[in-house]
Amino acid sequence: MDTFAFIIHPIDPKRDVSRKFPLLGRVLNEKQIDFFSTFFPPVYISEIEGIRSEATGREIKGWFIACPYTPKRMMELPERTVYRKIIQTGRLAEKLGAQILGLGAFTSVVGDAGVTIANALDVPVTTGDSYTVTVAVDALREAARVMDIPLRGATAAVVGATGAIGQVCAEMLADDVERLYLIGRRQDALEELRDRLKVQAGAEVIISTKMDVLAEAQLILTVTSAIHDVIRPEHLQPGSVVCDVARPRDVSAMVAAVRDDILVIDGGMVDVPGTVDFHFNFGFPPGKAYACMAETIALALEGRFEDYTLGKHLTRERAEEIGRMAKKHGFRLSGFRSFEREVTQEQIETVRRNAKNARKIQAVHK
Ligand SMILES: NC(=O)c1ccc[n+]([C@@H]2O[C@H](COP(=O)([O-])OP(=O)(O)OC[C@H]3O[C@@H](n4cnc5c(N)ncnc54)[C@H](OP(=O)(O)O)[C@@H]3O)[C@@H](O)[C@H]2O)c1
Repeated sequence: MDTFAFIIHPIDPKRDVSRKFPLLGRVLNEKQIDFFSTFFPPVYISEIEGIRSEATGREIKGWFIACPYTPKRMMELPERTVYRKIIQTGRLAEKLGAQILGLGAFTSVVGDAGVTIANALDVPVTTGDSYTVTVAVDALREAARVMDIPLRGATAAVVGATGAIGQVCAEMLADDVERLYLIGRRQDALEELRDRLKVQAGAEVIISTKMDVLAEAQLILTVTSAIHDVIRPEHLQPGSVVCDVARPRDVSAMVAAVRDDILVIDGGMVDVPGTVDFHFNFGFPPGKAYACMAETIALALEGRFEDYTLGKHLTRERAEEIGRMAKKHGFRLSGFRSFEREVTQEQIETVRRNAKNARKIQAVHK
């Protein structure tokens, strides 16, 4: 049977450590977990079974293994130290017999996005970022459809547009919409991306280093590597859709608390073919996985045991190729979730109604 492994790591330290070690999660506070994570060895989490390709009927199995560092730790520690720990975790995957290894969340963001890690390991490596792009853009398109926002006339924004995932998402959305804001922190990188996109894009492309321009956008895809939220309630216009691909999240929990006229969806959740059991609760309902996990699984189902997505320069071609491959094996865009809860049709109706009222009030005050 073909095999894969996927590296996860604690994102919300207390919650995630409790999922594997309830006692440690209870007695240590967040700062202590952050500190001790530096000395913790890689952790075997679980065996994953029941994945079956819709195209070939073949079953595969895999393993979750954990790199103990939190995102904060991965950003603070020297790159060398972080690479070493991820490579050590990768060696555990090799011992288990994995034929391909996926890098989850921040283990794929650090440094050169998997290149050094792949060079040091025998097992082929992928970050999962190509399929993350495809799923994020598809989710935003689908959310626009259910919210009755026609793509052709829409203003969209990509936050973290100069990042590995952000750039290709921007490239794809530039073909769909009327106007596209690219938001980032580095003016020169934004200018370079705008000039590249301008050549092929159907959309008017505008760059900004300010979150305030989000008030112009109806459709927002956010994918920064910030370790704290960057999008707050006052940034958003009524009726807008925000697809949050970042882990940790980019959208403040305050948005869900005080803006019932906005649809925030988690980007990157897919249904896995077969009757998958992860034997570990990573926060999704049964049968669903992150797109980056799905990329690793789809490559294993396809028998493509090679380094697939590595480095900060992703391509649209790869994103589309893995999209086709995943679809063939039976991965599907999942229903929407927002802040770890399912989004119901009723909630979508409520958001639309509240947005309409908010716009009326805004018009009166103008
Ligand atoms: N949901 C999934 O399945 C999935 C899969 C893979 C990755 N991810 C998540 O996707 C995110 C991005 O990954 P990536 O590989 O594209 O990272 P990346 O290449 O490092 O790009 C990150 C982008 O975020 C910007 N940024 C960083 N900190 C910021 C801040 N405080 N305010 C505003 N912008 C900021 C960076 O700007 P500069 O260019 O100025 O540095 C850059 O444009 C991460 O959160 C990762 O965990 C999710």
